[in-house]
Parts: sequence; structure tokens; C-alpha cells
Amino acid sequence: MLQRIFLFCCITLVCSTLLDEKKSNTSELSFGSISKCISEFCKISLHFRSTAILEYGNNETVEKHLFFNEIIKTLSSDGIQQIIIEDLTKIKNIEVAEADWMVVVYIYHCESLSKFNNAMMHDKIKYLIIVPDHLETECKDDFIDVGNKVAYYDVTFIFNNNEEEDNTETYTISTFIREVDEATCKEIVHGFININNCQNGILESNIVFPNKNPTNIKNCPLNIGMGTLYPFSIIQDRDILKTFDKLNESQIRGSDLELVKIAAKQFNATLNYNYVRKKEENPIGQYDFIPFIMNGSLDICAGGFYRIYGDVVSYSGIYARQAVKWMYTADRKDKSWQNLVHKVNGLYIFIIYYVAYSCVWWLIRKFDKQSVSATTTLIFAWGALVGAGSLQDTRSLKQKIVNLMYLIMCLHLSAYIAAQLYSFYTISEPPERLETINDIMESGRPTYLVPVVKYFVIDENFRKYANQSKECDTFYDCFEKSLIYKGMTLLLHAFFANYQAKSAVGDEARILCTTQNVLTVYYEMLIRKNSPYVSKYQDIIVRLFEAGIPEKLYIEAIGLTVVGRAESASKNIIANSYSCQTGCTVTIRQLDGAFYIWLVGCGVSFCVFIVEIRKKARRMSLHLI
Ligand SMILES: *[C@@H]1O[C@H](CO)[C@@H](O)[C@H](O)[C@H]1NC(C)=O
Ligand SMILES: *[C@@H]1O[C@H](CO)[C@@H](O)[C@H](O)[C@H]1NC(C)=O
Ligand SMILES: *[C@@H]1O[C@H](CO)[C@@H](O)[C@H](O)[C@H]1NC(C)=O
Ligand SMILES: *[C@@H]1O[C@H](CO)[C@@H](O)[C@H](O)[C@H]1NC(C)=O
Ligand SMILES: *[C@@H]1O[C@H](CO)[C@@H](O)[C@H](O)[C@H]1NC(C)=O
Ligand SMILES: *[C@@H]1O[C@H](CO)[C@@H](O)[C@H](O)[C@H]1NC(C)=O
Repeated sequence: MLQRIFLFCCITLVCSTLLDEKKSNTSELSFGSISKCISEFCKISLHFRSTAILEYGNNETVEKHLFFNEIIKTLSSDGIQQIIIEDLTKIKNIEVAEADWMVVVYIYHCESLSKFNNAMMHDKIKYLIIVPDHLETECKDDFIDVGNKVAYYDVTFIFNNNEEEDNTETYTISTFIREVDEATCKEIVHGFININNCQNGILESNIVFPNKNPTNIKNCPLNIGMGTLYPFSIIQDRDILKTFDKLNESQIRGSDLELVKIAAKQFNATLNYNYVRKKEENPIGQYDFIPFIMNGSLDICAGGFYRIYGDVVSYSGIYARQAVKWMYTADRKDKSWQNLVHKVNGLYIFIIYYVAYSCVWWLIRKFDKQSVSATTTLIFAWGALVGAGSLQDTRSLKQKIVNLMYLIMCLHLSAYIAAQLYSFYTISEPPERLETINDIMESGRPTYLVPVVKYFVIDENFRKYANQSKECDTFYDCFEKSLIYKGMTLLLHAFFANYQAKSAVGDEARILCTTQNVLTVYYEMLIRKNSPYVSKYQDIIVRLFEAGIPEKLYIEAIGLTVVGRAESASKNIIANSYSCQTGCTVTIRQLDGAFYIWLVGCGVSFCVFIVEIRKKARRMSLHLI
């Protein structure tokens, strides 16, 4: 046993001395240190099934052999899988989506770099190229050609930077970064740019595969397409313009214009605006401007666009949303007799009490063995109830108590009626509220929708309902028709707020919307796919969105006063309105119902009078005969 351990130790010792010799002789690379650097690269840049692809042909030097042995050992102990391929052409057999891949290529000399071929490169795979030479002293070329080949890929180079006398093992990590040329506005590369260092297996920073898209475009133009949608973008004289017509900034208003300007400032870009024609009501099916984005005539499109163009373009990410809601007209109920009767609905309690009292009275009188007539009881009780007469005389304590209790009820009835009348004449009730889509569909009011675009909700009930709607042309037309005919229509939130403020009367809204949304629409800008602006533009929009800037611009574009007026108008209409705030106006005229009742009473008594006179006359004539 001891012998074996001794033997093992000896072999290890011999091996390590051999390795040391190799290191100090054939190469200046320290394999342990650079392997750790490569492992760090994998840990930072690969996240999903991290896999390193090692290129190892069948006729390699001892040096590369040792190097690979060391890499494999380090990566395995760090839990990174490896695949060994003979040459880079084999990469095309790899399923790119199945893992995060990083190809490690070992190049013996700087000169071999110029033979570098990008035909086999893939834009979803990362490449790490190890060059054992010293960049500044041993690499003479500026490698612009190589830079042009690889500047669109994730390629990073590791150069040896070890000093003879120094004990530290340093590697320089460099790559090519594209820049915009100020004069031509084209992208160019200069030469290797140092992005990081690895010292004794430790990376200085986390930058390993930097984004190579230029972020400062040096006053070069950015071509913006502007569609229209209130309040994101409002364009003057849009009716005479066609797609790709040049626009002056002064012709455009709205929140998207401000947003684009903020983003362009971060790119250091000059903005060229072009008109993009699209329907405001429903742009689905309009794709005629997409070729302008695809062929590079337009870099970015703004102005109330949705993610409906598939993946032929890239999107900025959501920066605004709006609800589509049903709008309906709101009117306070007028003060008709029907409404009053409908409102005074607690009267039956008094009727029940009246009947109960009459029965009790009749029973007590019977119990006391006193004469009692059902008709007289009912008439006296009714007279007392409506406050027009007294109750019958009482002859015992029982009867007194029953009558007293009944009188209390009578007092309450007259108080109840008086309070109902007062509130009816002084307080206006809020209008009928339609909160849900079901309420809308069941309300029986006329609906106004734009014919060609109304079937945008994929719901059988909605489609059936929309099919019965009346026709109108634009949001505004639909709104006006709804207002005139007390109907309903669908509106985007921004239009709703605007129209509500516009149509309010005496600071009370004439239109209201449901609390339930028909749907919510999300706005994104369109960016040319694969353009160098995509990722930075998306980052900027996300940051602005998180800071609430688009929402602020949106409200400013509608107008703070408009939004405020719309909000207060809807608050006012859905509250009770107390007309005594501006002076109480319960007049005799408003009580004319009482006179009508009195007139009816007079008419009835007149009829009775006539009937009695005729009876009397008949009786008298009978007497005479
Ligand atoms: C490296 O080894 C070779 C022979 O294997 C020898 O000729 C050469 O001088 C050595 N170089 C150094 C720097 O030791
Ligand atoms: C192997 O490499 C050596 C030197 O690096 C070269 O001379 C030889 O031709 C190579 N053999 C094959 C089969 O590529
Ligand atoms: C924008 O580009 C111009 C032209 O290259 C340059 O002079 C200016 O410094 C840049 N501005 C910023 C903020 O980078
Ligand atoms: C844009 O403005 C310039 C001057 O500011 C004017 O000459 C030009 O006609 C305008 N273009 C349009 C399309 O209005
Ligand atoms: C881009 O496409 C549009 C529409 O097809 C065309 O009018 C325009 O000239 C094209 N622009 C370029 C630069 O190819
Ligand atoms: C609308 O109703 C008519 C008949 O009332 C029917 O022919 C038509 O197909 C319906 N349209 C839709 C989209 O449901």
C-alpha cells in the first residue's frame, strides 16, 4: 500500500516537472491560468446548458495537446460540458437553440489570424480565439480585414501578455467594435480594442462579449416613420400626405414625437421624419409601409403602432397601453310622476299596518261586545293614516293603546312622504350606470360602430352584437351619433377623455364608459430587424417606461386640463346632485301633482253629487206619482 502511494507521488512529481519544463520552453502560456480564464468566460456568457466546443484536429502539437488537457480538466470541474470537433465546419450540425455555445479556437500565431474565415460563423454562437502571441510586440498587422469579417459576430480574442520577469500571468482580452464614421455615416472598425484583462485566472470585469452595435451615431440621420393616432402623434394636413412623404418636425405633435426625440438624443442622432399612412380606428391589414422598414428606408416607426406585424420587424417593447371601452350617454332622470312613484316604494309597509290595525280594532270591539262596523273602521283608519281625520272614539284602555300606536305610525307615514317629496324635488339622481359589457348588450340602446373594422374582438357574442349595430365613419362621427341618439360606441381611452371633456355640460359629463374593458391595446414602436439600433433602443424604451415618462407625455399630449375636466365631469355626473347648493327651488309648481289629485277628487265628488241628485229626483217623482 505504502509502496503504491510512493509510486503515485513519484509519477505526479515527474509529470509536473515535465509540464513545468514544457511551459517554460515551448510556450509562454500558463495553461492552468488561461483555462481558468476560459472557464470564467463560460460562466459569464453562457447560461442555458453551458457548452464549450473545442476545436482539436488530428495532427496537433504537444503544446495544444497539453493546453486542451488542462482546459478539459478545468471546465469539467466547473460543470461546463464540452464537445470536441475536428474543424469548424462541423459547427453547422449543431442545434443552436438547444444550449448556449461557445467555440474555443487555439491559433498558434498571429499570422494565422489573417486566414480567419467567417463563412462558418453563426450569429447565435460565441467564439473565443486564443492567440499565444503578444498583441503589441508580436502581432504586426492591424487586422482591419479580420475586424470587418467578425465585427458582426460575438468573437473575442485572448492574447498572451505575460512578462518574462514578472510572476503574474496576464492575458489581454480584445475584440473589434464597430463605429459610425462621421463623414460617411457608415459603420467601420479600427483595430483591436482592449475590453478586459485576465490575471492569474481572474477576469478584471464582466465584459466578455460586448454589444458591438455603435451607440453614438455622431449626428448621422435616423429615419423615423410617423403614423398618426391621437394623442401619440397628430400630424397636420395628413389627408394630403402619402406614405414616405417628408415631414417637418413642426408638423407633428404628440407624445411619441417627444419619446423618439429623447431616445434619439441618446444615440446622438439627427432625426428625419417621414409620414406613414395608417388608419387610426384599426390598422390591422395595412402593411404597405412595411417594405420601407425592411429595406432600410425607415429605421424606426412611431405613432401608435401595435405588435401586429409578425417578426418581419423588431419591436421597441411596450411603452403605453390604452383600454378600449364602451361609451354611453349619461342623463340624469327627469322628475316625472312615474319616477316619483317608482322611488316611493316603501308604502306597502304602511298599508300592511293599516290592514292589521283595522282587524285588531274590529276584534277588540267584538271582544268588548261593542257595536262595530267594518266599513267605518276602514274609513276612519284610512283618514287617520293620510292625516285627514281622527280615529274613532275609544271606550277602554286596550283601544286607547292600539290607537296611540297607530297614530305614531301615521305620523311616520306623513314624515316619510314629506321627505320623499323633498328629496325628489331637490336631489337629482345619477344616471343609469352600465358597468359591464353585459349591461351594454342588455341595455337596448342603439350602438354605433365603424362597419369595416368592428369585428376586432374574437368573441361570438360580441360579433353577433356588433352585427346589429348602426353605421358611422370615424371615432368622432360615432361619438356624435351616440350623443344625439342616446346610443353607445367603442372608444380608446384617449379619445374618450377628450370627448368627455368636450361634451360636458355645466361640469357634468354627458358620456360615461363601462368599468369593464373590451380589451387593452399595447403600443410599441417598430424597428428595422437586425438594425444596430434594436437592443439599445429597446433598453432606452424600457428605462423610460419604468420611469413613467411615456405615461406623463401621454397625459400631457391629451392636455392636463382636458384630463382633469373629464375626470371631474364624470365624478360629478355619477354623484347625487343637490340642487339646494345653488338655492332651493321647491316651488308650488313642482307640487302640482297634489292639485291634480285634488281635481280628480273634485271630479269624483261631482259625479257622486250628480248621481245622488238623480236618485233624489227619481225618488221625488215616485212620491209625486
Ligand atoms: C527549448 O527546448 C529546445 C529543445 O527541446 C531547445 O533547443 C531550446 O533551446 C529550449 N528553449 C529554451 C528557451 O529553453
Ligand atoms: C502534421 O503537422 C506537421 C507539422 O506541424 C506537418 O509537417 C505535417 O505535414 C502534418 N501532417 C498532416 C497529416 O497534416
Ligand atoms: C455627437 O456627435 C457629434 C459629431 O460627431 C460630436 O461632435 C458630439 O460630441 C456627439 N455628442 C455626444 C453627446 O456624444
Ligand atoms: C419644412 O420647413 C421648411 C422651412 O422650415 C420649408 O421650406 C418646407 O417647405 C417645409 N416642408 C414641409 C413639407 O412643410
Ligand atoms: C424601399 O421600398 C419602398 C417600397 O417598396 C421603395 O419605394 C423604396 O424606394 C425602397 N428604398 C430603398 C432604399 O430601396
Ligand atoms: C351579420 O348578419 C347578417 C344577417 O343578419 C349575416 O348575413 C352576416 O353574415 C352577419 N355577419 C357577421 C360577421 O356575423
